[in-house]
Parts: sequence; C-alpha cells; structure tokens
Amino acid sequence: MRILFIGDIFGSAGRRIVADHVGDIAMTQRIDLIIANCENAAAGFGITPRLAEELLATGIHVLTSGNHVWDKKEILDYIDHQPRLLRPDNYPAAPGKGVFLGKTAAGVDYAVINLQGRTYLPNIECPFRRADQILSSLPSSVRVRIVDFHAEVTSEKMAFGWYLDGRVSAVIGTHTHVPTADERILPGGSAYQTDVGMTGAYDSVIGADKNAAISRFLTGMPVRLEPAKTDARLAAAIIDIDDATGRASAIRRHMVNGD
Ligand SMILES: [Fe+2]
Repeated sequence: MRILFIGDIFGSAGRRIVADHVGDIAMTQRIDLIIANCENAAAGFGITPRLAEELLATGIHVLTSGNHVWDKKEILDYIDHQPRLLRPDNYPAAPGKGVFLGKTAAGVDYAVINLQGRTYLPNIECPFRRADQILSSLPSSVRVRIVDFHAEVTSEKMAFGWYLDGRVSAVIGTHTHVPTADERILPGGSAYQTDVGMTGAYDSVIGADKNAAISRFLTGMPVRLEPAKTDARLAAAIIDIDDATGRASAIRRHMVNGD
C-alpha cells in the first residue's frame, strides 16, 4: 500500500493548499491512506472541531497533532468523539487517544500512532517506553504501523526512529516545520524522515508572519504571531509499504507549490 503523510498544516494557507491538491495527489499517486498533522490548522494554534471536520472531508483519513492540540478549548470535548483526530499518546491524563486502528478501502488493517518528544517540550511520559507498550498491545494482524513523532530535536527524533526500526512501517517526524532531506529506509524495514515539513505559507518564519518573528528576536518581547499568507506549499512524504509484512520499501519527499 501507499501512504501520503502530510506535514503540519498551518493556518488558512495550509488548509487551502490541502483542499486544492489532496484529491489530485491521491489519484495521480494512487494513495491508499492519507495522514496529516493538523495541530497548527487554526491560525497556527491548535484545531477546532469545524476545521477537523473540514480537513477530514478533503479525503484525509487520520489527523495527528502535537503540543498545540490543546490551544482551542472546544477541542477537549470533540476529541473524545472523533477517533480520527489523534493527540500524542504519551500525555498522561488527557482526553482523546494517540492510536487509531483502521482498514483501508482495499481491506488492509493499519495503525496510526502519535507520540511526542520531550526535549524542549512538556515533560510528559517517555515516548520510547510508551511506544513499547502500544506496540505490544496491537493485534498481530496489524502489520502496517505509521508513527507521527512530534518532536523538536533531531537527535531525539533519529534515536526514536532507530529504536522502532523493524517494529513499525514508518517513523515520520513533525513539529519543526522544516523538511529534512534524510528520508530513508532503515535496515529493519522502517521508513524514516526526521521532519516532513510544513504545509502552509513559506514566505514566513515556520508559518508565521516573518516581521513579527524578527521583531521577537530583536526585542525579546512577546509579539503576536499571525499566520503568513503567501508562497503556500504542501510538504509530504509518500511511503510504500508491503501489506503482508508491514515493511517499507520506499519513501520520497513530495512537495507541491501553490498557485
Ligand atoms: Fe508542535
């Protein structure tokens, strides 16, 4: 099977390029499963129920998230009723879940797992040990296992990829919004990329208005960050996985430039 993994959708520019292109990509690339990180979909800060429904209606099968998922309070009730919206599983006492078990249209079982790193991020439960627990609890019939590892630091992400190599189909990093050029298949058969990148406006500092971001660095004072609007791009990875073994055979970056 072939998976499209879309990196952090940021604000209206990110939502629009997804709505405009995801159907096309799914058709031309013969995609079986679409996963997207949505934690910055609501003007850069979290996601609302309406926006989650809007993104799922574009054809995305599973939404993942990260530290910003809690920014909009209305998500707290919604997330318990929408199993296709994940939050990092290693939050110790939060609504919602970090694992989704599904079946593709062709009848292939899959698991999407969302975990979060701890370096320069809230000190939640250990993602490594939490991953062990999740993997030992999955039905053995679920061979296709995709992990969104939402983390800041390249070393933590790379260590996590090696830790899960051979036990999952893919470990794809999110959160830094900068696509890394290190996509590869690890020796145990897991596809890996440190960060898949951002889906949003690239005339920006990681999605936000660049002048506001510069001013923050110049003054050290809080400045309200608004989402940037121009140079929209969609950043994704396309991963080929053997249905029977869950091993990945290929991963490549897939970028789309908006109009
Ligand atoms: Fe994040």
